[in-house]
Amino acid sequence: MTFWPSKRVVVGIGGGIAAYKTVDLIRRLREQGAQVTVVVTAAALQFITRMTLQAISGAKVWDDLFALDQEQEMGHIRLARAADLVIVAPATADLLARLACGQADDLLTTLLLARAGQPVLLAPAMNPAMWHHPATQRNVARLQADGLLLVGPESGAMACGEEGMGRLATTEAILEAGRRAMTPARWQGRRLLVTAGPTCEALDPVRYLGNRSSGKMGWAVALAAARLGAEVQLVHGPIALPPPDGVRTVAVTSAAEMYQAAMARWPDCHAAILTAAVADFRPQFCQTDKIKKPAQGAEQQPMTLVLQQTEDILAAVVAQRRPGQVVVGFAAETTDVEQQGWDKLRRKGCDLLAVNDVTAAGCGFEVDTNQILLLGQQGQRQSWPMLTKEETAERLLGAVEELWPDY
Ligand code: CTP
Repeated sequence: MTFWPSKRVVVGIGGGIAAYKTVDLIRRLREQGAQVTVVVTAAALQFITRMTLQAISGAKVWDDLFALDQEQEMGHIRLARAADLVIVAPATADLLARLACGQADDLLTTLLLARAGQPVLLAPAMNPAMWHHPATQRNVARLQADGLLLVGPESGAMACGEEGMGRLATTEAILEAGRRAMTPARWQGRRLLVTAGPTCEALDPVRYLGNRSSGKMGWAVALAAARLGAEVQLVHGPIALPPPDGVRTVAVTSAAEMYQAAMARWPDCHAAILTAAVADFRPQFCQTDKIKKPAQGAEQQPMTLVLQQTEDILAAVVAQRRPGQVVVGFAAETTDVEQQGWDKLRRKGCDLLAVNDVTAAGCGFEVDTNQILLLGQQGQRQSWPMLTKEETAERLLGAVEELWPDY
């Protein structure tokens, strides 16, 4: 909820059946706190009513280039300049063609032509044959070369009954692309390694030793870095979260696999943020057959598991780092949190350690918030308030930036 509130967004709607989905986009933008102005083409009003758009956007809907009252009240040049973002959804084949030619024959195309330098996000939607037509592809390439951004279309079943490429991107995808369009790419050219989630250490073909890590913190770090334009490699244990947009994910199971995957990628990275709850021990032997209970009636014996230590990925990352590479570790503690944090920071040798008390309310596994005490090798100590994992991730990336000598 911290990103959208100050943002002024123009939502332009073209004349296609997907226009009904734009109602949800407007609703979500407003829910997130954005100030939305709706501009429609004449064709769009064949698919969706002015009344609906006015009710959902909570404001007048703009469409007429030649109505004096609209021009005086709004002024297309002013509107084009004032908006932080213009989203066109759906961007129909006809609208793309008109934009690619630089036409300004209605209010929406006129305001897009008057917009210079600020982001415009096009979300195309049309019949698959129209999308694949060389003319449309030519227009899209032209518009991208002119600096306009694209989200979608996606593949799937169309309203016309056909299957294929041409569905409007989901509301979620449009919101994410819009957010990125407005976020300066401060980490462009930077490569980040993130580990996340639990590891599972096999006991036999059906059982494992694991832990309750949800992976949410690592996901938030990977997403926040991708939003800044970083190339992110997310090495993660078994978790069911969908991959963050624009992040390369590498799924592993055990600590040994996570170690291999992380160490193979580390030499090419500028920073590593290791959020994974790596198992510290694995069973010394993984049985090839399922372990059976003693036969019924047999004398019960305590079961003994022999464990051996796993690879310490953080220690290896620190040991193999080059000057300038920044390493951040996490520490989930339950007692004497600050002292344990300082000890671990010294022991592990990472640049920063994000310590949290997993017994505190709102911290730890499966929740969306976190309260971090950030400790640094140079004696830095920052006690952050309770934040969402998204906000925690953004702050953490800021702390990494401060340690890059050339940033
Ligand atoms: N870590 C790692 N590989 C391991 C164990 C831990 O990379 N085998 C990383 C974690 O991802 C985290 C940091 O080291 O960034 C600290 O993890 P933690 O489990 O708190 O540290 P341990 O060294 O295992 O210490 P403890 O004895 O407190 O469990």
